[in-house]
Amino acid sequence: MSTSETLAFNPFLPEVHEDPYPLYHRLRAEDPVHRSALGMWVLTRHADVLAVLRDPRMSRDPRRSERIELLRSSAEVDELLTSEEAAPSMLFVDPPDHTRLRVLVNKAFTPAAVERLRPRVEAIVAGLLDRVAGAGAMDVVEDLAYPLPVTVMFGVPEAARERFRAWSRELVRLLDPVVASDALERALQARLALRGYLRGLVAERRAHPSGDLLTALIVAEDHGHKLSEAELVSMCVLLLVAGHETTVNLIANGTVALLRHPEAWAQLQADPSLLGSAVEELLRYDSPVQFTSRHALADLDIGGRRVRAGETVVAVLGAANRDPAQFPDPDRLDLARKPNRHVAFGGGIHFCLGAPLARTEARIAISALLARLPGLELGPRPPVRRDTVTLRGLASLPAKFPP
Ligand code: HEM
Repeated sequence: MSTSETLAFNPFLPEVHEDPYPLYHRLRAEDPVHRSALGMWVLTRHADVLAVLRDPRMSRDPRRSERIELLRSSAEVDELLTSEEAAPSMLFVDPPDHTRLRVLVNKAFTPAAVERLRPRVEAIVAGLLDRVAGAGAMDVVEDLAYPLPVTVMFGVPEAARERFRAWSRELVRLLDPVVASDALERALQARLALRGYLRGLVAERRAHPSGDLLTALIVAEDHGHKLSEAELVSMCVLLLVAGHETTVNLIANGTVALLRHPEAWAQLQADPSLLGSAVEELLRYDSPVQFTSRHALADLDIGGRRVRAGETVVAVLGAANRDPAQFPDPDRLDLARKPNRHVAFGGGIHFCLGAPLARTEARIAISALLARLPGLELGPRPPVRRDTVTLRGLASLPAKFPP
């Protein structure tokens, strides 16, 4: 294919990192099942992405990938990977292990369980906005998006939050398609340190149960089976990465999208009943998780191209969510968009377990901003983008308002 010589999927290029959507449109139009220079297949059509997420011949387990061998080149990394594999989290295993873990953990995430967290979320948001309301300026990431999910989920004490944050920042690099070897080692070291911290937190919650999610996980039980200690810690690490960083990004990406479209901000203020569909549109418009991957368990065809067993397929959720075949006028922010079958939470058996919680947190945070800081606008400094590519978000979002 001649176009693929000039068309490359490189999410790390600064202009692509800032705004990946023009490249996604080109890939989808010119080479929708794209073979990248790194040997991975890159899918950008909504239909292909959804089909792969639902296909039982596609594994989520990195040990089924050819590429795992590349990561093992350093003895230290190999050691760390092996010790972690003692209890991989459910996001990285296939059935039947996946089914067993998901059934157990699901108990902590039922709509009723999330509803019980609602007053807690509202109180945390109110407290966070109280702190900035008189100041006339805030950083939406620092002051709201970051502290909210971490407090809801694990009740991490304020004193430990900075350490927690540093580990989690190193750790999320593991999700990027390519990780430099020094960053990989730092990420794996951070994971070890975080596991140590979480083991202590689990022991503390066992002794003194509280209203957070961690306590709910500890008590989750299915026919007498509980999570083992190692599984519980792996689950917490997964929740941190899958649940925490993503929710921060949803609130930050969502707020910046609204502030860049003052007519949408005004529309939502005038009609709060749009809040539910608005959060779905914000998830679609600038998705917090841009890609996920699967490893072929058998040779198969995707869009007329032959994918071999062991090869990795990257499903670009952010591109699927801007596919004009699924979403008319896909680059337009339309808070009332219906239907809105976005794949921001994935699809198939690994569909995001925390979607109800993420939606609740985002709705409460955004409606509180609208109600309490109606004159919110961007400034005085421009937003700063985070350097990860799989997780798309902001490191800083300065905003001002009449105090
Ligand atoms: C805006 C916020 C969120 C987004 C965009 C998001 C996105 C996703 C996506 C795309 C997947 C599927 C990954 C794949 O198929 O490879 C996923 C899975 C998962 N998410 Fe979320 N997530 C969010 C919030 C949360 C929250 C708040 C939690 C929990 C507290 C959570 C827990 C999980 C778990 C446990 C999985 C793995 C499920 C499984 O393997 O069966 N997520 N998430």
